[in-house]
Amino acid sequence: MKILVINGPNLNMLGVREPEIYGTLTLDEINHQLLEKGKELNVELEFFQSNHEGSIIDKIQESYGFIKGMVINPGAYTHYSIAIRDAIAAVGIPTVEVHLSDINSREDFRKISVIKSVCVKQIWGKGLHSYLEALEFLVNKYK
Ligand code: DQA
Repeated sequence: MKILVINGPNLNMLGVREPEIYGTLTLDEINHQLLEKGKELNVELEFFQSNHEGSIIDKIQESYGFIKGMVINPGAYTHYSIAIRDAIAAVGIPTVEVHLSDINSREDFRKISVIKSVCVKQIWGKGLHSYLEALEFLVNKYK
């Protein structure tokens, strides 16, 4: 079983980016923790980060047929990328939407996710644990 972990724009800046909101872990450190969890759960992981909407869509499309599940933090695209939403719907791969911060208690524009309705679950506000929980959920549900 192979799971793809996608991170969208500005998530490559974790560690220095607004640490009071997103914490101090870098994306590499988060991915390392996910790899450890993946070993425990006996799943293979692939990581992808891009600041570009089209690259994220290409990656989702390329995953059709051989990726069993996706964990995606679409960053700001969460709130307005119908194109990423449509890509997830098109491939039909079970996807969990994750956020480090509590998007429901911040600015009003963050409360809207156009991605949520095509995902099997949305997890927010748990930092690293949003990702770990998402991975565990996918493996338990779809293995
Ligand atoms: C985020 C929340 C988004 O609103 C924001 O644009 C991000 C990160 C999170 O992980 O909390 O880039 O997805």
